[in-house]
Amino acid sequence: MATACTYSLIISLILSFFILNSASSEADILLTFKASIEDSKNALSSWSNASATHYCNWTGIACVSTPSLSVTSLNLQSLNLSGEISSSICELPYLSHLNLADNVFNKPIPLHLSECNTLETLNLSNNLIWGPIPSQISQFGSLKVLDLSGNHVEGKIPESMGSLQNLEVLNLGSNLLSGSLPAVFGNFTELVVLDLSQNAYLVSELPSDFGKLEKLEQLLLQRSSFYGEIPDSFVSLRSLTILDLSQNNLTGEIPQTLGSSLKKLVSLDLSQNMLLGPLPNGICNEKGLINLSLHTNLFSGPIPNSISGCINLERFQVQNNGLFGDFPDGLWSLPKIKLIRAENNRFSGEIPDSVSKAAQLEQVQLDNNSFTSRIPQGLGMVKSLYRFSASLNGLYELKKCRKLVSLSLADNSLTGEIPPSLSDLPVLTYLDLSDNNLSGPIPQGLQNLKLALFNVSFNQLSGRVPFSLISGLPASFLEGNPELCGPGLSNSCSDDQPRHRTAGLATLTYALISVAFGLGTLIVAAGFFLYHRYSKQRSQMGSWRMIFFYPLRVTEHELVMGMNEMSAVGSGAFGRVYILGLPSGELVAIKKLVNYGSQSFKSLKAEIRTLAKIRHKNIVKILGFCRSDDSILLIYEFLQKGSLGDLIHRPGFVLQWDVRLRIAIGVAQGLAYLQKDYAPHLLHRNLKSNNILLDADFEPKLTDFALDIIVGEAAFQSTMASETASSCYNAPECGYSKKATEQMDVYSFGVVLLELVSGRKAEQAEPAESLDIVKWVRRKVNITNGAYQVLDPNISESSQQEMLWALEIAMGCTSVMPEKRPSMFEVVRALQSLDSRTSFPSNTSEGHSISL
Ligand SMILES: *[C@@H]1O[C@H](CO)[C@@H](O)[C@H](O)[C@H]1NC(C)=O
Ligand SMILES: *[C@@H]1O[C@H](CO)[C@@H](O)[C@H](O)[C@H]1NC(C)=O
Ligand SMILES: *[C@@H]1O[C@H](CO)[C@@H](O)[C@H](O)[C@H]1NC(C)=O
Ligand SMILES: *[C@@H]1O[C@H](CO)[C@@H](O)[C@H](O)[C@H]1NC(C)=O
Ligand SMILES: *[C@@H]1O[C@H](CO)[C@@H](O)[C@H](O)[C@H]1NC(C)=O
Ligand SMILES: *[C@@H]1O[C@H](CO)[C@@H](O)[C@H](O)[C@H]1NC(C)=O
Ligand SMILES: *[C@@H]1O[C@H](CO)[C@@H](O)[C@H](O)[C@H]1NC(C)=O
Ligand SMILES: *[C@@H]1O[C@H](CO)[C@@H](O)[C@H](O)[C@H]1NC(C)=O
Ligand SMILES: *[C@@H]1O[C@H](CO)[C@@H](O)[C@H](O)[C@H]1NC(C)=O
Ligand SMILES: *[C@@H]1O[C@H](CO)[C@@H](O)[C@H](O)[C@H]1NC(C)=O
Repeated sequence: MATACTYSLIISLILSFFILNSASSEADILLTFKASIEDSKNALSSWSNASATHYCNWTGIACVSTPSLSVTSLNLQSLNLSGEISSSICELPYLSHLNLADNVFNKPIPLHLSECNTLETLNLSNNLIWGPIPSQISQFGSLKVLDLSGNHVEGKIPESMGSLQNLEVLNLGSNLLSGSLPAVFGNFTELVVLDLSQNAYLVSELPSDFGKLEKLEQLLLQRSSFYGEIPDSFVSLRSLTILDLSQNNLTGEIPQTLGSSLKKLVSLDLSQNMLLGPLPNGICNEKGLINLSLHTNLFSGPIPNSISGCINLERFQVQNNGLFGDFPDGLWSLPKIKLIRAENNRFSGEIPDSVSKAAQLEQVQLDNNSFTSRIPQGLGMVKSLYRFSASLNGLYELKKCRKLVSLSLADNSLTGEIPPSLSDLPVLTYLDLSDNNLSGPIPQGLQNLKLALFNVSFNQLSGRVPFSLISGLPASFLEGNPELCGPGLSNSCSDDQPRHRTAGLATLTYALISVAFGLGTLIVAAGFFLYHRYSKQRSQMGSWRMIFFYPLRVTEHELVMGMNEMSAVGSGAFGRVYILGLPSGELVAIKKLVNYGSQSFKSLKAEIRTLAKIRHKNIVKILGFCRSDDSILLIYEFLQKGSLGDLIHRPGFVLQWDVRLRIAIGVAQGLAYLQKDYAPHLLHRNLKSNNILLDADFEPKLTDFALDIIVGEAAFQSTMASETASSCYNAPECGYSKKATEQMDVYSFGVVLLELVSGRKAEQAEPAESLDIVKWVRRKVNITNGAYQVLDPNISESSQQEMLWALEIAMGCTSVMPEKRPSMFEVVRALQSLDSRTSFPSNTSEGHSISL
């Protein structure tokens, strides 16, 4: 017994000695490796034998039990490492993966790593590796994955490479390789991915022994200098899913059975070569192909009708060829088709009505062809369409294309009038109808669109141009329409008489409106007075019920009594706002909601409590509320500087850029908090500069947020709908989408940011300037390349670059397509990065020259 015990003790001692020994030696190997590396960001600080951390837990290291723990993988990508890649690493007996991608190693290919005879993956992509591939590369016999892409590797690919017969992935893309390919590729029978793309000096024919690579799934040869024909042997690449030969110098015809033989192909790109001849009949395998790009070649002849069988096709691009004949009907009703580009060919025929079945169709470009038809009625049913340009000769109504952003029908022979229904397309932004034979007036309704481009030059249009439609756009968009008249045109509507009359009329109307408004105010005031008395009595009868979330020493009686014409400071869509001094000396703001749903007091209390619980430095606190039968009083904390809107609207608004940027960041943080951090997630739904209050330090705080949950969805919507004045804060999709989304808040934020960058109000009061800010900015930025003109001239030039960046963020937020807008968190990060770029010279929060 005793001896057995001793033996086992000795054995375990010996074992643990070996384990410890191997452990410490692996750590030493790693430290030796580290010693030759320059680690400017100290990313490998955990690599230290002094640290308590086991080396298997050091940055980038993975171990497995073999059965003792051994390093099998080293992944040190994106750490800005440079220096020597020491072969000491090869002493790790089980190392199989080495990834040093995305660093700044500036050496020739580290051949000594071939000593790592267990190495299967070597990834050195995106470094500064230079020099040729030495013929000794053959020593890496065990490699399965070799990625040298994105370096400065140059010279010819050596023949000896052919002995790397275990390779499954070979990526030499984006280098400076040159010469022609050696005839060794047939040896890589295990190859699954071969990437030789973006090697501009690789002037080579395509080796026909590529055809032997039966396991090859991806062949990426784009943007190099391959020339000659596509070898027939390519038809035996049976496993191929992606074939990209685009942007080379390939000539000749496509092998007849290429498409039909490659049964697994999902993407075929032969674009931007000099390929010619007809398209093979079986250009696609029946079920698989998703992307087919043949554009910018010299193809001629028709598109084979068999294309209608490619039922998974999403993107079809044959533009810039010499293709002709009828465009196959079947293409238009492919169930998944998203993109059809066929411009600059000689196609004829028509777009059939069956296009209405293409439920995913987003983009169609058919300009410079010989189509004979009108736009088919069916196209008007395609809800997903967002861009359409064509040479056609009939303009049909596109009523249901609610997502159409761009419509270009320039240079056709369109006749008749511009359909007024175009103004019902809520997001239409680019409209080019130039060079046609359109007649009649320009529809007034188009003024309601946020058009960044409106080109109707060279038609037969007549009549007065709606001023706000063209204001900010170059006059050349109207030229060649001798009968159009209006300010800025050579013909300024010569019939002065009616013009004066309209001006007179306008004044009259204005006067009438003013009178009506004055009367209205009186009536409201009287009404308020009566109502006030009434409610006072009621309050004495105890029909007001109130809840405070903060200790406020005030009675409902005092509150209601205090709300009078003197204390009223403004009114929004939902009701008036009052500022009240409490007996304690504290000031509070009270918002009176008149139109609200029929919630029970209990559920109302729960909803308002949800809002009152929000604690964020950029969100106004709700202190309490009162309810009577016909109104709700929301009690908010009071902020002394008033609203950002008031500030911008005041003449001579000057606020330095760093203050504006901090306001923008604060607003973005508040919104991001509501949308994502607070539980439940909330939408603001009514963001505008008037709903951003500023405290004494210009820290912004959002108010009037999430009123929908207090007043109820129906009342919220009807109130919002009645408030046209701030509609320019509303995202265009509000017009057709019932559901409120985060992206709508992002849009409103973008409008506020535009106000901060430009120093302009979102909506100008004077009719002469009645462009809303988004339209105004888009037109400036788009047409005159005048982003600088958008920037507030009152801000010093030293801030211009940053303001341009902020402008870019704002343009992103106000993008027409909701899915293109950034999230609020991305906005916060982007704005903060602007702030950190500037804050180093002077980070003063005091002493801004603010003149109001
Ligand atoms: C860490 O290892 C190096 C060499 O491997 C050795 O010189 C040094 O003394 C070790 N440090 C500690 C704290 O063990
Ligand atoms: C690595 O760290 C994790 C958690 O921090 C720990 O559970 C594990 O035991 C450590 N591994 C080694 C080999 O020390
Ligand atoms: C990255 O490394 C290079 C060279 O070692 C150094 O000059 C540079 O400052 C480093 N960059 C960062 C961001 O650490
Ligand atoms: C090499 O590493 C980069 C960065 O992690 C990665 O994107 C790339 O896919 C890797 N290459 C291979 C062949 O896995
Ligand atoms: C290709 O592989 C064969 C064995 O299959 C080998 O004999 C030949 O040397 C290899 N070619 C090259 C260029 O390494
Ligand atoms: C194609 O070949 C022509 C000359 O034959 C050359 O000028 C051009 O750069 C080549 N283009 C590409 C993309 O290799
Ligand atoms: C098709 O092309 C689009 C756009 O280039 C790309 O995003 C998509 O990943 C491609 N699909 C396939 C299957 O290659
Ligand atoms: C129209 O397409 C033809 C090719 O079919 C091309 O040669 C011509 O340049 C194109 N015209 C315009 C204005 O793009
Ligand atoms: C407007 O249309 C005319 C005529 O087609 C054209 O010459 C001009 O370049 C177009 N302007 C813009 C900005 O597209
Ligand atoms: C445009 O229409 C007028 C008559 O409305 C006609 O005389 C003229 O030929 C047409 N021009 C073109 C280019 O179609």
